[in-house]
Parts: sequence; structure tokens; C-alpha cells
Amino acid sequence: MKLAYEEAGSGELVVLLHGFPLSRQMWRAQIDALSSGYRVVAPDLRGHGASPLGQGVATMEAMADDVLELVDSLGVSRFVLGGLSMGGYVAFAFVRRHSERLRGLMLMDTRAAADTPEAALNRARTAEAVLAADVTPVVDTMMPRLFDPRSAERSPERLAEIKAVMQNTAAAAVAAALRGMACRPDSRPLLGAITVPTLVLVGETDVITPAAEAELMAQAIPGARLAVVPGVGHMAPVEDPGAVNSILVDFLASLPA
Ligand code: MLT
Repeated sequence: MKLAYEEAGSGELVVLLHGFPLSRQMWRAQIDALSSGYRVVAPDLRGHGASPLGQGVATMEAMADDVLELVDSLGVSRFVLGGLSMGGYVAFAFVRRHSERLRGLMLMDTRAAADTPEAALNRARTAEAVLAADVTPVVDTMMPRLFDPRSAERSPERLAEIKAVMQNTAAAAVAAALRGMACRPDSRPLLGAITVPTLVLVGETDVITPAAEAELMAQAIPGARLAVVPGVGHMAPVEDPGAVNSILVDFLASLPA
């Protein structure tokens, strides 16, 4: 499937995958900062932003193959893949299917484990509820969990923009992604076999994908770097773009040519 995307800068390709139910819009500050040294591409994953939804469940594998199609269309063979939360789940699917295409991996506020049976059931119920009404239950549940409360005080306008992106995501797309996340496999067995340089970044107060889990993930990936961003939650790149951008720039500069 052809994805809508934003592109800026030139040089080695860096692809950034947003979380659920967001869009490339969340990477605004990273696109600005990284495009001075890299070709940055931020797609809208299927059903999100301006990308079409396609048929059936939006699996992490289908999303990963969409990303491959996009990178192929850009004529690039190897690139750095970054993903936040659901974008990280898609990155794991990409590693499983197309790892030879990667020169680096940036796993942000995400987890390797699959859903617990309870979490998967809860997603199935939420998908039904969203299809029967609208996306409000998802937005209302997620908003307070996405951000450290201090971010809400520091940048209420940016939080309102993120909320609007969520509200504008179609109910069918939210349901398809919920079902896709619910059936994603456990990526923990994959971690020890990741051979590309990897950054694991997490907001210190992330309540959706907690720092303790990110630490375990980083320990399991050979040579991975761990960065815990102080004072921010699940949306670390939105909450403290300055801190996150300097971590990303350092990591990208460390990659072998
Ligand atoms: C996300 O931020 O992408 C989602 O919260 C991930 C999830 O629900 O597991």
C-alpha cells in the first residue's frame, strides 16, 4: 500500500514511525532537527493521517511491508528505522521480515512483549465500542496516559494538537490497528538476534511502556544503548523534543558509515 509521508533533508535515510492512533505530525520537532544532517521520512501508517486503511486487520506485518514499499519507492537499500510505541511494534515486524535492510534501529517508548490475554481482550472490546460509536473512548482513555502531567502544564497547545490528531483518526482505522496490535507476536525471542546498532529510548514516567521494561529490552539486545529521558512520559519526543533530538543525533552520528 502507498503511504502518505513527509520528507525533509538529504543524506542517509532515517524513517520514523508514529504511535497509535497518531500520525507523522508527532515527529514535527524530530523532522526539523534531524533533517539538517539526514534524509528524514515520516509516513502515516495505514489508516492513520492521510494514508488509506486497506482491508481487514491492520497487522504489524502489513504495516512493516508498507514501510518496505515506501523505502523501495525512494530507491534506498539500507536505512535507520525508528518507531514509537505501535511504531516500535512495526519496527519489530520489520526486523523479523527485512532486517537486511536496516543500518540502525531506534526503539522509543515501546515494548517487545505481546499483549497479555487480558490486554488483547480489552483491545477487542474497545475495537467493538469504537465501531459502534466513535473514537472518543480511546482518546479519553489515552490522553492522560500519554503524557507526564508536567508536560500538560508546559505545552498545552501541543497536547491539544496531538489530541486533535487522535480525534481525526477514523473509527475503522482505530479498530483495525487495535486488532492488529492485539495479535502481534512476542518479539522478546528476537532481541538477542538483533545485530544492527540499536537505541532504546524511554520517557522516565512512561506508564504505557514503562522504563523498567525498556531497560530489560536494552539488556537483551546485544550492544544496545539505553536512554531514559527525565521528566517525560510515553510521548517523550513530543514532550521534550530538545532532549530526545540530542539523543537521536548522538546515536545516528555513532553509526558506522
Ligand atoms: C501507542 O502509543 O502506540 C499505543 O499506546 C501502543 C499500545 O496501545 O500498545
